[in-house]
Amino acid sequence: MSALRPLALQLCPLSPALEQGLAELFEVARWFELSAERQAQLLPARASEVRAVATGGHIGCPPELLEQLPELGIIAINGVGYDKVDLAEARARGVRVTITPDVLTADVADLAVGLVIDLLRGITPGDRHVRDGLWPAGERPLMRRVTGRRFGVVGLGRIGRAIADRLAVFGPVRYHGPSPKDAPFPYEPDLLALAAWSEVLVIACKANAATRGLIDGSALAALGPQGSLVNVARGSVVDEPALIAALAEGAIASAALDVFADEPRVPQALIDSDRVLLTPHIASATAECRGAMAELVLANLRAFLAGEPLPSAVA
Ligand code: 8YV
Repeated sequence: MSALRPLALQLCPLSPALEQGLAELFEVARWFELSAERQAQLLPARASEVRAVATGGHIGCPPELLEQLPELGIIAINGVGYDKVDLAEARARGVRVTITPDVLTADVADLAVGLVIDLLRGITPGDRHVRDGLWPAGERPLMRRVTGRRFGVVGLGRIGRAIADRLAVFGPVRYHGPSPKDAPFPYEPDLLALAAWSEVLVIACKANAATRGLIDGSALAALGPQGSLVNVARGSVVDEPALIAALAEGAIASAALDVFADEPRVPQALIDSDRVLLTPHIASATAECRGAMAELVLANLRAFLAGEPLPSAVA
């Protein structure tokens, strides 16, 4: 049986359900666990047997690996972001690329709202205050009301729209993106104008060449000393050194970050800052969401093996 199964490379840890499903369809090489030496042995010896790559949105498929896999047919991403895969190169090589849209929208939006509330109300520092035994010595400083704040959303795709719908319960919402959407919120074509209007700016856009470093020093200056930044998109969208400087200088009030430029490494300056709330890229990390993502990854892989239309392909 195993001799009949095509070979797949798994580039990062995946949920147990997804790993089990993968193992039913493929002989799986756990690429991320192999030493550089073992990787070099596996390729090129078995390169031509590799038909699939299973990976996370934050990992994608490195170009140097893609070019060593002549028979690769599909890169199945367990995530919605495909910024770490060169789509043009994949297309040129006839490699299909699939993602897991929709099934993670609600969870990512929920986390964004949780970060907004935590950041403004100080839930996490309040927890630390109690645990560190500081309460008897004094109360925490007053924080900021969430209700009535002005919320800017950068990127009104599926996730941005779900965030906007949730935040609209609290206060007025406007958005920025490459073009206006059919949405009940005012469109702001000028990012700096949106940042200046916003009290909380939530980043939910795609990571691509156009959005790399989009939230730079001038956007942060426009957001201003009372403004807060929340990022659930990709670290590359924010100019991290500019953010660190803005936080240190008080050019913005605070930031909540689920994503970073060089995950899982987080700059020490962000860890040390008491203006920052940090989470380890957990926006889609619920059992329900990861379960649904696994099903969609497997549906794409099964369709690929059967030569049927792929449920959620981007290339
Ligand atoms: C995941 C993501 O953390 O959807 C994405 O693009 O970054 C996240 O959902 C990751 O891809 C899990 O593998």
